Amino acid sequence: MSKAVEFSKQGAVGVITVLNPPVNALSQAVRQGLIEALAEGERDASVGSMVIIGSGRTFIAGADIREFGKPPLPPGLHEVLDRIEAASKPVIAAIHGTALGGGLEVALTCHWRVAVREAQVGLPEVKLGILPGAGGTQRLPRLIGPQMALELITSGNFLPAPKALAAGILDELVEGELLPGAVAFAERVVAEKRPLRLVSAMNDKVQGIDASLFENFRKGIERKARGYFAPWRCIDAVEAACRLPFRDGMKRERELFMQCMDSPQRKAQIHVFFAEREVAKIPDVPADTPVRKIAKAAIVGAGTMGGGIAMNFANVGVPVKLLENSQEALERGLKTIERNYATSVQRGSMAQAAMDRAMKLISGTQRYEEIGDADIVIEAVFEEMAVKKEVFARLDQVMKQGAILASNTSTLDIDEIASATKRPESVIGTHFFSPANVMRLLENVRGAKSSKETIASVMAMGRQIRKVAVLAGNCDGFIGNRMLAGYGREAGFLLEEGATPWQVDKVLYDFGMPMGPFAMADLAGLDVGWRIRKGKAHLRDPNERYSEVADQLCEMGRFGQKTGAGYYRYEGRDAKPDPEVEKLIEAAAARKGIRRRQISDEEILTRCLYPLVNEGARILEEGIAIRSSDIDIVWIYGYGFPLYRGGPMFWAEQIGLPKVLATIEEYGRQHGRNFWEPAPLLVRRAKEGKGWAG
Ligand code: CAA
Repeated sequence: MSKAVEFSKQGAVGVITVLNPPVNALSQAVRQGLIEALAEGERDASVGSMVIIGSGRTFIAGADIREFGKPPLPPGLHEVLDRIEAASKPVIAAIHGTALGGGLEVALTCHWRVAVREAQVGLPEVKLGILPGAGGTQRLPRLIGPQMALELITSGNFLPAPKALAAGILDELVEGELLPGAVAFAERVVAEKRPLRLVSAMNDKVQGIDASLFENFRKGIERKARGYFAPWRCIDAVEAACRLPFRDGMKRERELFMQCMDSPQRKAQIHVFFAEREVAKIPDVPADTPVRKIAKAAIVGAGTMGGGIAMNFANVGVPVKLLENSQEALERGLKTIERNYATSVQRGSMAQAAMDRAMKLISGTQRYEEIGDADIVIEAVFEEMAVKKEVFARLDQVMKQGAILASNTSTLDIDEIASATKRPESVIGTHFFSPANVMRLLENVRGAKSSKETIASVMAMGRQIRKVAVLAGNCDGFIGNRMLAGYGREAGFLLEEGATPWQVDKVLYDFGMPMGPFAMADLAGLDVGWRIRKGKAHLRDPNERYSEVADQLCEMGRFGQKTGAGYYRYEGRDAKPDPEVEKLIEAAAARKGIRRRQISDEEILTRCLYPLVNEGARILEEGIAIRSSDIDIVWIYGYGFPLYRGGPMFWAEQIGLPKVLATIEEYGRQHGRNFWEPAPLLVRRAKEGKGWAG
């Protein structure tokens, strides 16, 4: 028998144990092993029932994702599942850890399912751009009805065992050890001579379902699933479960599954799945590097960022102290936090009790001495070097030895900040994205002297506060904001050349960005960038192309949403195209002698996004990012780049690096090479015909 599955006996119960660490994925060896173990249980006359259980930390966590896209190796999962369901003796799934995807589908073909209280079940395939393709969309609705099945399958969320029991997915919770509990359950089933329960034969819950249920569900997920392919196919498959006999429903599920498998989104989403795991690995920081446990945190600065950062700690039960230099600023900061939590409670995304718990963990102070015992202090004060250095010199005096001294700077030099202390090894950047309590990205920035322990600690802290942490090197703008510069610049130039803000925004919104660059600028406030540009005006090369439109809007007092006008005119929060802005753009173009022309959507997309890719290539070559997939993670979780496109670097690879390069070179010929100089790494990889990894 294959080593990935073991057959043993406990009295008259055959125990089938899956042994495929780390997560017992359904690799070929496991599939083969399950078939052989079932056959042995069937053959052995002394076996009255069987239990399928996972060894190690979990039940089966799904298909082996690494096998996707490769030629399938027999036996297929369907064959395994058919054999389980058709077994002549009762088969019981015994679940601990997670039963996910194909793992839950295995359990759904068993005649009964038991689990420990801490277990979770789910069909997360949609997150990989596919649907549960081994009967999950046909069996789950039969067990729990279409509404709840739709919710689980289209969200991919995990359901804790007690809820799965209440829903009817599980038949019993085992208190105490799983295997003896499952064996006892199996013995009871045999003793009571219970008839085998085949989920495929249960039709009550899928009969007489009104079409409106599916229509309403489709409407309900329109915003969340915008641009995605798989969620809609999931709904079609569940609808088929309610319209067709089981076998025909299975065929329909197969067709829809294959459509997902063939979709480029599947490739992109699986890329992101592995990228999210890869990003935690730092080549020169071994996985066993000791980390500082964060049991207490402190934040300097109780503004929007500081407050948002504090909420992250309180949300996971870590006490956090906010430091401000005036009582008034402190109270304002604490009030804002309270208001943000209250909004979540009102919206139903947080329980009042959870809010009360979190608020109790947040306190304020005006005295540096009172934050000295924190394991990490994160500075989130005004973005100015002199101010930051003053703060760090003070932190150096008060913080306990071994504490991490972090800065939330989004652009400034971490080494210079660290030089204000006598312990640069403990200094590091932890760049949060606004709103800091919502956005999942944490861009950690290593200084030249940051120690391995400091790096490992802030990466671990990212997991602790449920962020995706990426490690960046120290440079102006780090990974994310450095790439952003070209995006905004080209969007501005396109206006002068003939596009309108609403045309540009629509193209990027349709591409999958949460909003286009101009709607985004209006939301963030145009005055912020204006102030920065004025500060840097003396550094600008007078011969370099510069669009004045944004500055002119600001001079007119149009700062964006907050003043009721920016690139758009606002009625409440509704953005309306504004002819006045069009006139202003036309005049700006005329002054420069630019003849405005029709600009295609394709040009808008490539002009705005190829600079990201080109700068990403430089960032990669300089070692600011460890791998191209880290850049993808930054843009997906920090800037809302559509996950189903895999991030800007993956997206470019799919287009083909030679094609991207050719377009960049063409833009260089049209607009000058100062903004369109191809990155050497892009040139090399395109010539070699390879992807970023070489
Ligand atoms: N296939 C292959 N490798 C997998 C895997 C899978 N299904 N699930 C996890 N792994 C790997 C991870 O890549 C990681 O590898 P490295 O250590 O080399 O980086 C390792 O297992 C551990 O995974 P995590 O770091 O994620 O561990 P965790 O404890 O944080 O989470 C988990 C465990 C909840 C199972 C999580 O890994 C997870 O959500 N996995 C994916 C589950 C899933 O999507 N299943 C559905 C698969 S598709 C399917 O089943 C289709 C079908 O219909 C047949």
